[in-house]
Amino acid sequence: MTSQTLTDSPTDLDSAPYLDRDLPVAARVADLLDRMTVEEKVGQMLQLDARDDLEDHVLRRHVGSILHTSPERILQANALTARTRLRIPLLVGEDCIHGHSFWPGATIYPTQLGMAATWNAELVEKVARATAIEVAATGIHWTFSPVLCIARDLRWGRIDETFGEDPFLIGELASAMVRGYQGDGLDDPTAILATAKHFAGYSETQGGRDASEADISRRKLRSWFLPPFERVAREGCRTFMLGYQTTDGVPITVNDWLLSDVLRGEWGYTGTLITDWDNVGRMVWEQQVQPDHTHAAAAAVKAGNDMIMTTPGFFEGALDAVAKGMLDEDAFDEAVARILTLKFELGLFEDPRLPGRRLDAMVGSAAHAELNLETARRSLVLLENDGVLPLDATAPLRVAVVGPLADDAQTQLGDWAGGSGQAGWLDGQPREMITTVLDGLSGVAGWTVAHARGADILTLEADPRGATFPDGQPRPSVVVPADADESLITEAVAAAEASDVVVAVVGDRIELVGEGRSTATLELIGGQNALLDALIATGTPVVVVLLASKPLVLPASVSRAAAVIWAANPGMQGGRALAEVVTGAVEPSGRLPISFARHVGQQPTYYNQIRGQHGDRYADLTQAPAWAFGEGRSYSTVAYADLSLTSTRLGLDDTVVGAVTVTNTGTRAVRETVQVYVRDVVTSVSWTDKELKTFRQIDLAPGETRRVELQLPVAECTIVDAAGIRLVEPGEFALLVGPSSRDEVLLSAGFTVV
Ligand code: NOJ
Repeated sequence: MTSQTLTDSPTDLDSAPYLDRDLPVAARVADLLDRMTVEEKVGQMLQLDARDDLEDHVLRRHVGSILHTSPERILQANALTARTRLRIPLLVGEDCIHGHSFWPGATIYPTQLGMAATWNAELVEKVARATAIEVAATGIHWTFSPVLCIARDLRWGRIDETFGEDPFLIGELASAMVRGYQGDGLDDPTAILATAKHFAGYSETQGGRDASEADISRRKLRSWFLPPFERVAREGCRTFMLGYQTTDGVPITVNDWLLSDVLRGEWGYTGTLITDWDNVGRMVWEQQVQPDHTHAAAAAVKAGNDMIMTTPGFFEGALDAVAKGMLDEDAFDEAVARILTLKFELGLFEDPRLPGRRLDAMVGSAAHAELNLETARRSLVLLENDGVLPLDATAPLRVAVVGPLADDAQTQLGDWAGGSGQAGWLDGQPREMITTVLDGLSGVAGWTVAHARGADILTLEADPRGATFPDGQPRPSVVVPADADESLITEAVAAAEASDVVVAVVGDRIELVGEGRSTATLELIGGQNALLDALIATGTPVVVVLLASKPLVLPASVSRAAAVIWAANPGMQGGRALAEVVTGAVEPSGRLPISFARHVGQQPTYYNQIRGQHGDRYADLTQAPAWAFGEGRSYSTVAYADLSLTSTRLGLDDTVVGAVTVTNTGTRAVRETVQVYVRDVVTSVSWTDKELKTFRQIDLAPGETRRVELQLPVAECTIVDAAGIRLVEPGEFALLVGPSSRDEVLLSAGFTVV
């Protein structure tokens, strides 16, 4: 800081180079950095919760960013920055994860896991683009999305936020989402910053418990957890968020190997790093690897973090570290320069993008509702069907729509949506924007629809350990499963007996989903199993709609259900999409991005596990999942034949070129996802038995046959060796092609890499 800086006044500033939009960004950053006090620099690295004392954040702590900002507080915050010495605009961040989550009246799409079930990167990119348009119009510049964590233990409460269990599918969809958010570049007024999170290994929980230690080797990270992150880092995702957990004893926030050697070093990442919520404070009060905020702040700065999320004490801690000689005064310059660069590139000094006049035309627009409907349609996965579906929309059917989730509008939206509890300024999205399953099916002209709730799911009790955690964050309530209620079941059974078909909508609720809300079981909670047993026992065909954030375990009686559909949390248009699929107005095309367990004790159930174990089942249960990665039915049947390769001896620079004949052998149109896996027959280290490498979606009319061309560079047929190097090991391989990851349905063609 120079003495001249202290005398800066708003009038002096008008001619300051950093406010000259015609200067290059680097020059503006250098000029501004030069004027900042050490307090202003430390504050610039802070992102604090806008629901707290905004005035203190902006005027005393000089924050660079805020999150969880209600529409009113965006304006207040902006008015406050106008009163600051250097008038540095705020970066406003929010978790706009599947739509503009907490903006009243915004479009809420299926959850990320629901979107993954579309296996459609183009559609996912469109959703992200439409979300960015809504978000950018409201004065928010940065979304903490997408999640690139690999789903492992299904008990984890955040499975719904992932793209599922496969690194390749995650990479494809995450890359699409980042493109959609960031648009044509930050000077595009509809572009927002994307965040790849949570870097890295956060999902490798112990027993599904959120943010527990991730016991994971560097080689394993390189094998499966890092590749999706590497892809979006190289493709220009502007920010990365660091996971909460420790790995091999080291919190990610200070993991030098991951942050410096791999991310900044090997991948050459120049983007901005943000910690997760109070990661710096957690090193003190939770993980107890730092004695106080002074040490924690110094360690976080030295490790190369740029923005510190919601650790107010970082401000005092970092300044104390400077006073004690633990940090130099210029220790913050690189981080602050990166943050300022984002602000200049977004043009915030000229236009902070406050909620504008065209808001109503952008937020929750009809065009976005249409896109949402298409996404919801494509996200529905038909798991079983004895032929009862599609139901005839023109027949005078009596349909019993039963179950606790048949008409629960906010639950249908899932986590990170208006009613999910993270934002205090709204408790849900407008009911009239949401079509529940009951709404959707009631809209079928000619049908007579009866409705019965049939079961309750849960009640809540206060946690005896207190209402908050040591950091003041609210402690989730304790879930008490509801008892089966005979009178509700009797009413539902009567409706079923008086109907031609039952649509039973069961699943989970927000209290069983999300951060700190992992579950010990995967069963349907409360009276739902008893309800399904009773409905199925009536003999009326039952279509089970599983409206569940993640794969759940269904009761044995469901093997006698007429059909099963997994809907994830399908967003605002979910009920309409469901009605269209159930009536056959739309062909079901979703495919599982994640395997379903038969029993919680089978965890983990992901398809691409490492070869080698004694036997292939439990003594008391098969090891096979109930439904495997890639599975999903159509209303038609599809046959795969004649897989052939043009050449079976290939060099490292060659491409595997093949073709397979895919035939729609049924009487209805089909959208088929042709999946291509690779098996490396002998590997120098243990490796997974097959990995998804590419896929193609094709539409086939009834009876149509198509020869589908397949191409896969040999360079993609890699493993990670004992030294942690990713490489192709010459030898025998198999190309496996078919409709899912199950061995029984895959055709195989061998090739040799020489
Ligand atoms: C904590 C979550 O882990 C992260 O995903 C989210 O972006 C931040 N909180 C901000 O809400």
